[in-house]
Amino acid sequence: MRISLTVLCLSVLIKDASASTWCYTGCEHTPSRWPDLDGSFCGGQRQSPVDIQNRHVEKDDSLGSFSFVNFSSRHTFRAIVNNGHTAKLLLKDNEVELSGGGLNGTYSTIQFHFHWGDTEHHPGSEHTIDGRRYPMEMHIVSMKKGLSVAQAVEDSAGIAALGFFFDATEDEDLSNPWSALTSYLLNQTDTEVNVAHLISIDDLIEDVDLTKYYRYMGSLTTPSCNEAVAWTVFQEPIRVNRILLQQFPLKTGLTNVYRPIQDLRGRKVFSSPAVLLPPSHVWCYAEDCDFSPSKWTLLPDSHCGGERQSPVNIEAQNAVKDERLDGFAFTKFDDKHVVKYITNTGHTVKLVLEEGAMELSGGGLGHVYSTLQFHFHWGSSSPNSEGSEHTIDSRRFPMEVHIVNKRKDLTLDEAVNATTGLAVLGFFIEAAASKSSGGGENHEDSEVSSDIPSHVSVTGSWKALSNYLEAIQTIGSQVEVTEELSLAELLGDVDLTSYYRYNGSLTTPSCNEAVVWTVFKESVKVDPSLLTMFPNRTGFRDVFRPTQSLHGRKIYTTAGGSALAPVELLLLLFFVSVSLSPVIAN
Ligand SMILES: *[C@@H]1O[C@H](CO)[C@@H](O)[C@H](O)[C@H]1NC(C)=O
Ligand SMILES: *[C@@H]1O[C@H](CO)[C@@H](O)[C@H](O)[C@H]1NC(C)=O
Ligand SMILES: *[C@@H]1O[C@H](CO)[C@@H](O)[C@H](O)[C@H]1NC(C)=O
Ligand SMILES: *[C@@H]1O[C@H](CO)[C@@H](O)[C@H](O)[C@H]1NC(C)=O
Ligand SMILES: [Zn+2]
Ligand SMILES: [Zn+2]
Repeated sequence: MRISLTVLCLSVLIKDASASTWCYTGCEHTPSRWPDLDGSFCGGQRQSPVDIQNRHVEKDDSLGSFSFVNFSSRHTFRAIVNNGHTAKLLLKDNEVELSGGGLNGTYSTIQFHFHWGDTEHHPGSEHTIDGRRYPMEMHIVSMKKGLSVAQAVEDSAGIAALGFFFDATEDEDLSNPWSALTSYLLNQTDTEVNVAHLISIDDLIEDVDLTKYYRYMGSLTTPSCNEAVAWTVFQEPIRVNRILLQQFPLKTGLTNVYRPIQDLRGRKVFSSPAVLLPPSHVWCYAEDCDFSPSKWTLLPDSHCGGERQSPVNIEAQNAVKDERLDGFAFTKFDDKHVVKYITNTGHTVKLVLEEGAMELSGGGLGHVYSTLQFHFHWGSSSPNSEGSEHTIDSRRFPMEVHIVNKRKDLTLDEAVNATTGLAVLGFFIEAAASKSSGGGENHEDSEVSSDIPSHVSVTGSWKALSNYLEAIQTIGSQVEVTEELSLAELLGDVDLTSYYRYNGSLTTPSCNEAVVWTVFKESVKVDPSLLTMFPNRTGFRDVFRPTQSLHGRKIYTTAGGSALAPVELLLLLFFVSVSLSPVIAN
């Protein structure tokens, strides 16, 4: 048997010997290193928690109501314990049960525990809904009846976990079950404190509509992250006074005890029929839908009406020269194996990269950024299509690719709320003109712009991309990328030293004003057939936001490489892969 019983956070009977070997912060094995732990499944394919995107949730009529046994009994709480990772409430053995709710069989409830952020109102739920993290989350953990712990973690649905979000209220009434429960929180670890108050699980969740929930198959969210959990995440949060919620970090001394979001990797999230999927999330680019770009400001948590929005029109003449805008250093941009998967979001085609593989620095950014994903904006399938987001002197290019990078020292949550938390690189894409001859003279093809090279061909990476577009024609579909495909090859030999720089926003809701924009002057030239494949394969077109007012912002520009010898510059700016960099540094 490969499972080490000692590392199960579930088990109430077995001492948690792994407590000192993993952590959320401040030790060697933080979440990104959990996969390295002995017997760990944390690097697997169906990990939890996940971000639940309402847009991609599928209703499932078989997700009916739950049946609970003894959830209303006020005699089932045994003890509360701080295990160094969370506050866990232990239930009496074999008294609490649940079934129904689309689960196969009956589950015996053994404990519940919490995930939270810090005392500075930093939220700490594990699951997020449309990217929103709630202040806190409670997990009620049950094991399939009749299975031992060892058997349960080997069964793909051996464990049923119920997740409840919390919302902080200003409610004055503190004489409720939550103030009784929080009174038992303790910073001393591994000491079981008996719960004398008479509290039931129902007392804690009474206001939540238990027919409204999401369902997906995932894992434990602590090592060994066994992929044995049928997750139920309730849509409605438990509402508790914010002072009581703060007791969790204050009294336990534990902060930010939640695992970061894991990739769905093609998994589906289902919802019970009662879940109301909010229409507010149905934003679009077209003018004939409910939330067209001019109405994005009305969406919840929207920044789209702010004063540093993107995209913008760049007036080349008015751009201010800035000597500090030097060359970029790219790490692993030429690696052909860092794209994890490609997905059709209904708004774009997005390629998501291996976490932490690609990096970006230099270019006057002042921080190291790690590359998360890249995606495309396009117009129609006509030969003169215009679909870029940025425009230069009011000229709109056929397409634009955005390479999205997050400051390496910040979490994604922090980055989208920091003024320069994200760095996005924008490249225009246009058709290469097909030249008839390779002669050095220009007089023959006066209609054709002379700055387009004659040797453009469809490279391997563009071929791979076009193959994958075939595979993701339905909205929401996602395919693992196994063919060789690199960003460096998609961009070709475009000049990386000449660019514009300004402070702006994400160009899709919630339009967070957290982006340092780099818009490259030279466009990527591709075979014309590659431009039309985006609208043709996906079935949607004109996926770009109109340009936004500058509101007095300045746009800066690289000084223009006249002074430096081009050969030296090239050496500095070449895609530096990790294996080569020590050589270059010497
Ligand atoms: C419910 O809990 C009570 C004690 O609180 C226990 O006696 C009873 O057996 C439990 N019911 C079931 C069905 O387990
Ligand atoms: C219930 O069993 C079916 C058939 O084996 C399976 O497809 C489904 O995922 C199971 N659902 C849960 C929640 O365990
Ligand atoms: C635990 O709490 C006690 C009393 O509130 C406090 O004196 C002590 O410093 C705390 N210990 C830790 C390790 O936080
Ligand atoms: C962007 O904003 C940051 C922080 O306010 C500032 O330091 C920086 O100079 C701005 N950059 C540009 C290009 O405006
Ligand atoms: Zn948990
Ligand atoms: Zn974009």
